[in-house]
Amino acid sequence: MGSPLERRRSILRILRERRSIRKFIRSRMPEEVARLIVEAAVRAPTYSYLQAYTIIWVRSEELRERLAELCEGQDELVRSSAAIFLICADLNRTRRMLDLLGHRHVLESAKHPVESIFAVLDSGLLAAFMIIAAEALGYGSTILDYPLVYPREFARLFELPRGVTPLILLCVGERGEAPPLRPRLPLPLVFHEDGYREASDEELSEYLARLEEALERENYVRKYIGLDMRYLEYLRLKTGLDDSLKKAYDAVEKYLKENLMRF
Ligand SMILES: Cc1cc2nc3c(=O)[nH]c(=O)nc-3n(C[C@H](O)[C@H](O)[C@H](O)COP(=O)(O)O)c2cc1C
Repeated sequence: MGSPLERRRSILRILRERRSIRKFIRSRMPEEVARLIVEAAVRAPTYSYLQAYTIIWVRSEELRERLAELCEGQDELVRSSAAIFLICADLNRTRRMLDLLGHRHVLESAKHPVESIFAVLDSGLLAAFMIIAAEALGYGSTILDYPLVYPREFARLFELPRGVTPLILLCVGERGEAPPLRPRLPLPLVFHEDGYREASDEELSEYLARLEEALERENYVRKYIGLDMRYLEYLRLKTGLDDSLKKAYDAVEKYLKENLMRF
């Protein structure tokens, strides 16, 4: 175990050295390990003790295969993960708990922006804690964004009731690669003192250039996304406004309005 100081250092090392792992040695996680990860992660801070999330552990191989088909491009990652967890923002269970208090409550109303945002925050904190717990147990991980991009398909596959929004898939596995640490914005751009400081165009351009250079050295876009382009070109492609993106986002917005975001 070591002294409290040594434990603190080892947690800091885990955080400072973490990177996404997208190549796993195929294995399946024992139940006691999955439980250890989730038991540790539910200690994350939570808004009003409501834990507005649900974690679905994908245990059935048949379901995993259907999931792999949905996650086109990252299907091998899904197949080789030791464990896959679908993390959902859950206002269904939260609403039912408030119903039991027998008063007129906020989740019955047309607007609950605070509860909506904090359900996402609760889920994000939970995911972060799960990632750290998995790292402490020797596993690597990657978050996949498919659930929020295809919420209706995920809701159907996992039989999610209204009010439950699939956000991310957390794929945890035995490391089959050792990628470099990826770039981050310089600390002064994200860590301000006593007020907001607008970054200059030079600072932002410098970071974008450094980002592209580092990812190019790793051959990142070709290796992980399968496209023959540099990262900034890919980012332009991914964030470009076109009709198909608008249509897809209209569908996501509609789902979120029905299930999570009441503004
Ligand atoms: C909300 C969210 C969605 C993500 N979706 C994906 C994804 O679909 N596929 C993937 O390979 N990585 C995904 N990632 C991982 C990021 O690409 C990764 O964290 C980022 O490239 C930084 O690299 P690092 O984690 O190795 O430092 C996602 C991360 C977050 C926080």
